[in-house]
Amino acid sequence: MAQGGDNWWRDGIFYQIYPRSFQDSDGDGVGDLAGILRRLPYVKSLGVDAIWLSPIFPSPMADFGYDISDYTGIDPLFGTMADFDALLAAAHETGLKLILDLVPNHTSSQHPWFVESRSSRDNPKRDWYVWRDPAADGGVPNNWLSEFGGSAWQFDETTGQYYYHAFLAEQPDLNWRNPDVRAAIYDAMRFWLEKGVDGFRVDVIWHLIKDAEFRDNPPNPHYVEGRPPNERILTQYSTDQPEVHDVIAEMRRVTDAYRDRVLIGEIYLPLHRLMAYYGNDLTGAQMPFNFALLSTFWSARSIETIVEDYEKALPKGAWPNWVLGNHDRPRVASRVGPEQARVAAMLLLTLRGTPTLYYGDEIGMHQLAISPEDVRDPFEKNVPGIGVGRDGCRTPMQWDASPASGFSGVRPWLPLPEDHIRENVADLEADSRSILSLYKRLIALRKASPALVEGDYHPIAAQGDLLVYRREAEGTAIIVVLNLGPDPIAVTTSAIRFNSEILLSTFLDREGERLEGVLDLRGNEGVVVMPPYI
Ligand code: GLC
Ligand code: MG
Repeated sequence: MAQGGDNWWRDGIFYQIYPRSFQDSDGDGVGDLAGILRRLPYVKSLGVDAIWLSPIFPSPMADFGYDISDYTGIDPLFGTMADFDALLAAAHETGLKLILDLVPNHTSSQHPWFVESRSSRDNPKRDWYVWRDPAADGGVPNNWLSEFGGSAWQFDETTGQYYYHAFLAEQPDLNWRNPDVRAAIYDAMRFWLEKGVDGFRVDVIWHLIKDAEFRDNPPNPHYVEGRPPNERILTQYSTDQPEVHDVIAEMRRVTDAYRDRVLIGEIYLPLHRLMAYYGNDLTGAQMPFNFALLSTFWSARSIETIVEDYEKALPKGAWPNWVLGNHDRPRVASRVGPEQARVAAMLLLTLRGTPTLYYGDEIGMHQLAISPEDVRDPFEKNVPGIGVGRDGCRTPMQWDASPASGFSGVRPWLPLPEDHIRENVADLEADSRSILSLYKRLIALRKASPALVEGDYHPIAAQGDLLVYRREAEGTAIIVVLNLGPDPIAVTTSAIRFNSEILLSTFLDREGERLEGVLDLRGNEGVVVMPPYI
């Protein structure tokens, strides 16, 4: 089931590693590839099937690797190509797949392609990027805004034109309407695919194609004061253009030329637009990331609605997926609170669709408040003080109670929370009822249960803080009952039959309990129940 074969990315569980923050091996306070290699047994011990590495390529690190200056190298900060080859081989050896972060929308401004492109208007690489003349008044070509604050247009003195950057000025957007650009990125993909990399998570894939006429974006009538300034306008013409789907289908043909590879798309869009990223006849991304849980109001009814809407919207044959955390969004333990973090884990690992875990969530790491002098994130630097900073979810992995938490021998690049003295892998591994133990049990349960891996999803009517659903496959069923609130609930739904057995409680203290019609749930408790028959 969960390994190898065509279905590995459907049946498996992904684990995202932010390389700067997982394990430092050379004492520079920044995580690296040799560090990840050293911690591979830990990743394996979780029971996950695949690792996604955030960017490890040569980069000036203006956006910590999402500004690439060489698509087929390894940044010395992270190690060498030999370190990468060793990591890939070791991952495969132990039965783990490895996918990389592909960042095709933009390069670093120091990428040789951009250095050439900006050198003159008639340089052969001029059209590889998005250059426009100033407006009649000499100002920016249109009203498009950078996601990281300010105009998305940067004037370049040398040639008297503006270039477009959806993110930092150090991240100029490539022109994906140019076939040479596409070919160059596909070559880079093949470089890694030839090495045996199992696929890609494609950064901001919905940004690749921009309006051919560069029309002004409309204002956002729902803008809320205090939100990031780029939200003042919608991205109607700067993102999610119809032609992007041809490009993604082309990209998919690149990965499909190799066996068993996966293409995952990073997409923040409303549901109906998101679904288009599966592509015509599923020729797009195999998994357009589903980020619905990252921003939902944490209540039983909201989540019930989100799951139902998502399930209904999926194109025929499309495989679902769920994400609870990533390197851009506040940690789940802080979004929902430490008690509900355990319920969230049970939700993620019992829903229908591939789960992606974010490193550290399995030990309950919370969003760290970063003092102004410790801020590293360019987004926070550009748009300070309104809570957009991403450093707080990128803090070093907490391995043990030592001063740098076993992450490094020196002061890490981002601070550690004081509670790392208790909330660390070593301590939580020793505690059979810790959140880490819960994650491992949930993962093991999922992998042993066809109903949880491939089963259908059936909501069961419930009220208040209660969320109930059944998963069913091959004559087996699992019922998941989650209490999203702090108060106890006596659950009397007919779905809980006499003699049903509790397989797992989020408190890890009720296994094997037989139910006699009523299920008494404690506050913030979730249980996985097996009915005596279907
Ligand atoms: C994606 C990445 C984010 C990065 C941005 C620009 O959203 O996840 O970390 O800053 O793209 O590349
Ligand atoms: Mg290091």
